[in-house]
Amino acid sequence: MKHYKKDELAPISLTLNGVARSAYASPRTLLSDFLRHDLGVTGTHVGCEHGVCGACTVQVNGVATRSCLLLAVQAQGCTVNTVEGLAADSDGGLSDLQAAFQRHHALQCGYCTAGILMSCDHYLREVPQPTELEVKEMLSGHLCRCTGYRNIIDAVLEVANARQKSKGMVEKNA
Ligand code: FES
Ligand code: FES
Repeated sequence: MKHYKKDELAPISLTLNGVARSAYASPRTLLSDFLRHDLGVTGTHVGCEHGVCGACTVQVNGVATRSCLLLAVQAQGCTVNTVEGLAADSDGGLSDLQAAFQRHHALQCGYCTAGILMSCDHYLREVPQPTELEVKEMLSGHLCRCTGYRNIIDAVLEVANARQKSKGMVEKNA
């Protein structure tokens, strides 16, 4: 592993939402700060900065990850997805998950929302048909001061059911 001198900047290259990006940052820079301040991608929010609130959650190599607990240099060469990459198409249309959040009023101030969406997106790939209890357990890694979580749970379950239904229809018509 390369050792950096004090004040030396590290070159960091990664794939961000499908686009190759690179910049220099201090080896002590958190991934959350690198994304926001150096790459100008501000959809990822920062709350507690010590791994508790979940607001800063992004996906690193497809896995939901607290970006305040990872150094930017640790993301060198990785694929990083943020809420900006969640849109369904290149026109920026909402994904099914985002649309369900909107329909169910699953956000109020929205501070927690980017992180929750990134966790839910990863979770539904891993657990396509979760129970309500499982969704609650997954959401226990996120703090939301506004919604009381009920509407978030409803949105996630609705998307899981809709995806299962459309998968069933595709299999039936195959
Ligand atoms: S800002 Fe990263 S978990 Fe709170
Ligand atoms: S919507 Fe305000 S903190 Fe969750």
